[in-house]
Amino acid sequence: MNTLVVINGSYHPDGLTTQCLEAISKKLCDKHNLTPVNFFLDDNIRGCASCRSDKHSDCVMWCRFEDQFQTIAHAIQDAKRVLIGTPVYLDFPSPKLLAFISRLNCLAEKTNREFFRGRYIHIHANAYVSGTKSTIQVLMSACEMLGFTIEGRSTTEYIQKWSDHKIRGGMTQEDACLLS
Ligand SMILES: Cc1cc2nc3c(=O)[nH]c(=O)nc-3n(C[C@H](O)[C@H](O)[C@H](O)COP(=O)(O)O)c2cc1C
Repeated sequence: MNTLVVINGSYHPDGLTTQCLEAISKKLCDKHNLTPVNFFLDDNIRGCASCRSDKHSDCVMWCRFEDQFQTIAHAIQDAKRVLIGTPVYLDFPSPKLLAFISRLNCLAEKTNREFFRGRYIHIHANAYVSGTKSTIQVLMSACEMLGFTIEGRSTTEYIQKWSDHKIRGGMTQEDACLLS
């Protein structure tokens, strides 16, 4: 129970999400006297496929697809606190973090939504310039639906003043109003 399960949804082990999670993890561990257990999500972790393994409901407990999911899920079972972090991809969490979160549904569903009750989660999103809020919102909704208590959320952006005229934010050249 004295662990903080840290789940990294980045594709870069030495990237910015990792740096952010290290800093937040240190803060949470100091505050609650916890030891971190770190997981870098496998690039090929599967998402829920609604496989209907159980005749009576969609899921079986601990999921039928065997991959990194089971190891992380058991670590969460042994912990009271979880920290998840993701880079922003088109205003959304990374595909592999979404895949992983969707798999957690079997644990909530097969325990009458008790599995995550009393477990606290901190959510972090990291981006170049935009999309952290929508990413946090998506993850908060999913985590609340699973039954987690949202303990905290945080964002980082590393935008610098642009020195070029590249079009950003999904605009075309015709839409753009460039300042000189
Ligand atoms: C496919 C893709 C989509 C991205 N979409 C956004 C975005 O919508 N907004 C943004 O500010 N940054 C976006 N980024 C940039 C990443 O969020 C940013 O570089 C992040 O810090 C990368 O974290 P990492 O070092 O852990 O990989 C995107 C990057 C990729 C590869």
